[in-house]
Formats: sequence, C-alpha cells, structure tokens
Amino acid sequence: MTISDYNFAGKKAIVRVDFNVPLNENGEITDDTRIRGALPTLKKIIADGGAAIIMSHMGKPKGKVNPKLSLGQIRAAVEKALGCPVSFAPDCAKAQDAAKALKMGEALMLENLRYYPEEEGKPVGIDKEDPAYEEAKKAMKASQKEFAKTLASYADCYVMDAFGTAHRKHASTAVIADYFDADNKMLGFLMEKEVQAVDNVLSNIKRPFVAIMGGSKVSSKIGIIQNLLGKVDKLILCGGMTYTFSKAHGGEIGDSIVELDKLDVALDVEKTAKENGVELVLGVDSVCCTGYDFGTFSVKPGAQIKVFPSNAIEAGWDGLDAGPESRKKFAEAIKGAKTILWNGPAGCFECEDFTAGSRAVGEAVAQATAEGAFSLIGGGDSVACCTKFGLTDKVSYISTGGGALLEAIEGKVLPGVAAIKG
Ligand code: 3PG
Repeated sequence: MTISDYNFAGKKAIVRVDFNVPLNENGEITDDTRIRGALPTLKKIIADGGAAIIMSHMGKPKGKVNPKLSLGQIRAAVEKALGCPVSFAPDCAKAQDAAKALKMGEALMLENLRYYPEEEGKPVGIDKEDPAYEEAKKAMKASQKEFAKTLASYADCYVMDAFGTAHRKHASTAVIADYFDADNKMLGFLMEKEVQAVDNVLSNIKRPFVAIMGGSKVSSKIGIIQNLLGKVDKLILCGGMTYTFSKAHGGEIGDSIVELDKLDVALDVEKTAKENGVELVLGVDSVCCTGYDFGTFSVKPGAQIKVFPSNAIEAGWDGLDAGPESRKKFAEAIKGAKTILWNGPAGCFECEDFTAGSRAVGEAVAQATAEGAFSLIGGGDSVACCTKFGLTDKVSYISTGGGALLEAIEGKVLPGVAAIKG
C-alpha cells in the first residue's frame, strides 16, 4: 500500500514523523527542515478529508518527562505550517479521549514518545551485566508491545514517515505496524523520497564518487567509513577525526579532540583505502584556538587563533577547523566528482571563526553539483551548514536523516521500512 493510493477520507491516521528539530534556548526552532519534510504526507491526509495524529520523539529524555524536550514547544509552528488546527495531547499514552474527539480535517500532536521508556524498549535502571537483565529485557519488550498497541488504538491506519528515525526499531517506528493489517499501514511521501534518493546513489553510481565525512569521532562513523571504502573513489575525512589520524602517525595535536583507543582503527582505515585504491584525503593544517567555549560556541575573551600543521599543534592549542591548505586540498578532491555524499562538518562551524572549512567543502560540493554531480547531504550539522552558507538550493538532495541515512547507504534494511514492507 502506498500513501498516494490511499484515501484518508473519514479516517484517523497515526503518523510517525521525526520532529526532533533543533531548538534555541527560547525553545524556538532553528532549522525546520524536518517539519517541512513531513508536510506533504500530513497535508495529503488532511486534504483527503482525514485526520492526522502526529507522533514523534525529541532528543533523548531517556524514559522521563523533560519539559525542555516537550513537543508542545513546536505545536504552534506545526499548526502554522500545516494550515489546520493542531491540538496537543500532553501524555502520548493517555490520548484516547483526545484522539476520539479529533475532527476530520484537523490534527492532534502527541507529547514526546520517549518520555516513556517503552518507546525505545530498553530496560531502565539495570546494568547489562546484572543477572536479572535478560528478564528485565523480556518484561520491557512485553510492555513495549502494550505501548505500541495503545498508540495504534487511536487510529484506523498507520503511516511511517520518520526517515530520520527509521534506523531505530522502536514502538512507534516498527512495533506499532503489527497492529495494522497490510492495507492500512504504509510509508509516507518523505520516506519514499529518501529511500529513492539513497537508491539513486547506490544503484547508479556515477564516478568519481567522493564522500566527505566530518564530525568529531572516528568511532561513531567507523561502520560507514569502512563501508564507503568499498564504494567510493575518494574519501575526505575532516573535522575532529583529523586528530586521531594525526596522532596515529605520532603527530603532535596539542589539546585537540582525539580518540586514543581508536589509533589502530585509523591506521586500518588507511590500509584498507590503499588496498581498495581509494584516495584518502586528510587535512594538513588546522585553525587552532587557545580558548574555545563548546557550550556557547564562542572564543573566550583573550584567547588566540592561529594556523598550525595538523601534526604539529602546540600544547594549549585546540584544532577547530580546517586550515587554508586543507581547504584547498578538499576543494580539489571534490572538483570533478559526479556523485557526492557529505555527512559531518569540517570544523566548529557554529562559530564564525571556524566556518571556513565547512564553507569550503559546501561551496565545492555546490560547484560540482552545478557541473553535473548528484550531491546527497545528510546529518543535522551538514544540513545546517548548507542553510548557513545559502547552499540548500545548490545541492541535489538534502536528507532529513543523519544516522538513518548512513545506515541506508551502508545497505542496511531500516527497521522502519521493514516494518511496512516485511
Ligand atoms: C536524529 O536526530 O538523528 C533522529 O531524530 C534520531 O535520533 P536518535 O539518534 O536519538 O535516535
């Protein structure tokens, strides 16, 4: 069943969206890409004469109520974007009355699903090593089913449209599908579009294929990095990962971020790249600072900024962005690419002083796109870079997924897709 063929007239549809959007300290949305992404599905339901029950998580409240992560903060923005009344149910597991009262042509938004540990289905307050863990896990799986069943009871049909969370096998992204028959569960427009974009890249790779992986940790990206080494022609590794590679070769990295337990992993990546004939591109110089506040994304008063070779950074200095030589190297590597995947920034782009690396990458991607490349951008930070540098219309596709996109590119079947398609 696809959403285009479904007539929602007179039906209540429970829709899993990913409204895990970034908020500023006043609770205002700073990037609404994910809300805009879900609108075609929600609008179709309303236009058909149906009603939408919108459910999502926000952040990681770990099974507890946390007002800072309340979806109530974004209700008004969703209402404005959707153009129909959107009411709010402050307890997602006790929304029976609100769902019953919901009128056709209107929407109801449920409070953060992750206020309940059942959403993720992981036992809380018990260690994996505890002998009672397996029992606790079994009990949690049973209550997860009950939770999913309750959510399902609000609606006549289920639409999965949360691509950003489709790599999670949670109550609302997968388990809930068991409570609807095949004719009444489907993927939404956003899911279809995202899966298609990944398919475009994987099934029809035009070469050279250049992947740019940024961000701070090798450990969180290693799966995809290893996988990409079997697919790409060039792999640019930038951001904080740079220093783990420098350190692995005995470089001096000052106070820069490093994963000392991943030095062998870095060397392994280099070896595999060589064996596979993949050109691995690493930064050679870094913009460093003596006092950066990671909480406020600002340079502390009196702190200095200077460029060092990435393997000769003095003590007291922290590498925060790609230096001019690295930027040139990255741009040259991207030039002429025909397929591009970009995930993760090249520096602490949130601060004006350290935007140049990510800007250089973004602009080179835009230039290659103008010259015929298909560019796929994923992950909140890279998407934020595109927005910040005015490049959103200059790349081929911006995904609403971070981890989900990477798992899809790795070729994994996403649980959110499997739940619908079997
Ligand atoms: C994301 O922001 O990548 C998605 O909303 C998934 O969030 P999660 O990593 O907390 O599951």
